[in-house]
Amino acid sequence: MLIRYKKSCEKIAMGLLSFMPLERDLKQLKQTMKDYEENPACQLFMWKKEDAFIGLIGIELNGTGYTVRHISVMPSYRGEGIGQTMLEKILELMAPLEMHATEETRPFIEVCKEKSKSFR
Ligand SMILES: CC(C)(COP(=O)(O)OP(=O)(O)OC[C@H]1O[C@@H](n2cnc3c(N)ncnc32)[C@H](O)[C@@H]1OP(=O)(O)O)[C@@H](O)C(=O)NCCC(=O)NCCS
Repeated sequence: MLIRYKKSCEKIAMGLLSFMPLERDLKQLKQTMKDYEENPACQLFMWKKEDAFIGLIGIELNGTGYTVRHISVMPSYRGEGIGQTMLEKILELMAPLEMHATEETRPFIEVCKEKSKSFR
């Protein structure tokens, strides 16, 4: 289930964000969390399974749509389709806005676009 980020999941969100190569630096990671907490254009969502938060997807709204800035799944849950499902849920939630990618998220989004009919 995709739910909006709450301050109570700050630590787990930071852990998930730190799997993204550009978020390994602690100073950068703290700035990213600040963006999601304070900038209304930056929105963070968590994927909850039973009682655990096992994934995260972060977007930034812009003129023509929104950019997927972050997407991350707990290593022990990878390869089960959770990353793709999170993208599909965001696509549905944000429609009709157009989804964009960063250099970092593009390779995964391109693969999901090929595999999922939600993008067509
Ligand atoms: C990228 C990530 C979110 C994928 O999550 P996941 O739940 O394992 O992904 P899915 O199971 O939904 O995979 C869907 C498809 O994308 C492919 N895929 C997985 N990671 C990929 C990547 N980094 N680049 C391109 N394709 C990828 C999978 O192989 C799968 O295709 P297949 O079924 O034909 O094998 C996860 O590996 C992760 O958290 N990585 C670390 C953070 C990161 O680097 N994020 C940005 C990556 S662009």
